[in-house]
Order: sequence, then structure tokens, then C-alpha cells
Amino acid sequence: MKKTIQTTSTHKKLKLFQDAEAASLFVAHQIAELIRDKEKQGKTAVLGLATGNTPKGVYQELIRLYKNEGLSFKNVISFNLDEYYPILPDDQQSYTYFMRQYLFKHVDIKEQQINIPNTDFSEKGIAQYCQDYEDKIQSLGGMDFQLLGIGRNGHIGFNEPGSDFESKTRLVNLDSLTREDAKAAFGSLDKVPEKAISVGVQTISKAKKILLLALGERKSEIMQQAINGEITTEVPASFLQSLSQAEFVLDASAARAL
Ligand code: F6R
Repeated sequence: MKKTIQTTSTHKKLKLFQDAEAASLFVAHQIAELIRDKEKQGKTAVLGLATGNTPKGVYQELIRLYKNEGLSFKNVISFNLDEYYPILPDDQQSYTYFMRQYLFKHVDIKEQQINIPNTDFSEKGIAQYCQDYEDKIQSLGGMDFQLLGIGRNGHIGFNEPGSDFESKTRLVNLDSLTREDAKAAFGSLDKVPEKAISVGVQTISKAKKILLLALGERKSEIMQQAINGEITTEVPASFLQSLSQAEFVLDASAARAL
């Protein structure tokens, strides 16, 4: 059922950049600053991470900071937002593979501090697995920082249109547009899984800081809805309007329709 929230606040937290590189550097530097601050305090930094095309520039800059500027990931505990179901971690389309390729194998994060939903088991155990994933995040005090991309249908993580704002980590059905957009990576539509495990909208909303990064023209229409439209479960990213710790980071192309 569609749910909406009324908000009287017109204050929208927007960070606009001229291009994808500038926006990505901004996000990477926010993450690096958090990691360094936590390190100084002798604490861990709990990061919620995303996959897809959007965060690649962020991860590239984090790798550069690790290699050239002494940024260490030893105190980082990471939780990825989502993973296809079913898929094997070694499949090239899996998000486990993605994270290894685009970030983890290049930095000094400890293997045991990486968390990515693992879908290499039968559907029977999934509810418990999802509960454990959720509990692990909450036992660490929730995410210190959550990085998000956005789907063309407004999804965050794989919280597709219609996802409840109270949702937690669970098995979800993928939207047809999401599967269509994944077609190129999988080679054909019938190879794209119909399900995924995703952390919930509520899980995301508990993060202490949230940055949604949107790059390129193809995200411009959904960004207009997510930022200026009604807060509705039909556009899960619109929920971020109601969260004071959430910001939208856009390049000029993604901001074109605002
Ligand atoms: C991926 C994820 C998704 C993507 C979104 C945008 O972990 O959570 O919500 O952020 O589908 O994907 P790209 O960046 O490929 O356009």
C-alpha cells in the first residue's frame, strides 16, 4: 500500500557539483575524514557501502588516499547494502566480486570486517540470515555513514517502490526497471536474478550520516521527484527528505531537472 508523509520543511540539503569527479571527490573526502576521526578516537568506523556505476569514482579516490596519503581501513567495518539472490560470491555480477575489484583488494581493510549479504544458501535460512545481518549492524550502534546511489525508479539499496519505511534487511523482489538496468551486466534479462537481499529503509535511516550520490542525466528526473516530490513509498529515496542527517550530492547533469 502506498504511504506518504507530510513535511512542512522546505529546507532541502543539496550539494551540487559541476561534474561527476568533483561530486565523487566530495563524498570520498567525507568518508576519509570520518575514518580518520574515528581512528584518532581509537574507534571503528562503520560504513554502509553501495555498488553500481555511481560509487566507482568514490572508491577510486579512497584507494588513492590509501596509497598516497596514508588513509588506513584497518578500523573500518563495512556493510554492503544489497546482493542479488541467488548468486555466488565469485560470479562477476555479484556485489561481493564488485567490492573486491573496486575497493577491498586495493586497501588494508580486514577480511573479517567486511560484510556483504551472502546468498549462497537455500531460501529456507534467509529470514534468519537477514535478521542476523540486521542485528550485527545494530549491535555496532548502526552505521556511522551510509553511501547510497539511486535507481531510476527511486530505489535505495534494493528497496524498490512500495518498500515500507519501516523495512529492515530482507529478501525482496526486484522491480522490472531494476532488472532491465542490470541486463547489460548479466548479458540478457533472463539471467538477471528476480530477487535480492537488501537492508531496509529503516536500517538506512538509522545511519548517523547519509549521502545519496546521483550522477548523470539519466538520474535527473528521479532526482527531481526524490528531492522535490512528495515523500512516498513509491519513491523510496524521497524518504531522505525527512531525515536531517541525509544529503543529496549531485553533479550538474543529475541536477538538470531540479
Ligand atoms: C547498489 C544499490 C543500488 C544502486 C542503484 C544505482 O548496491 O544499492 O541502489 O545504487 O541501482 O545504480 P548505478 O549506480 O549503477 O546507477
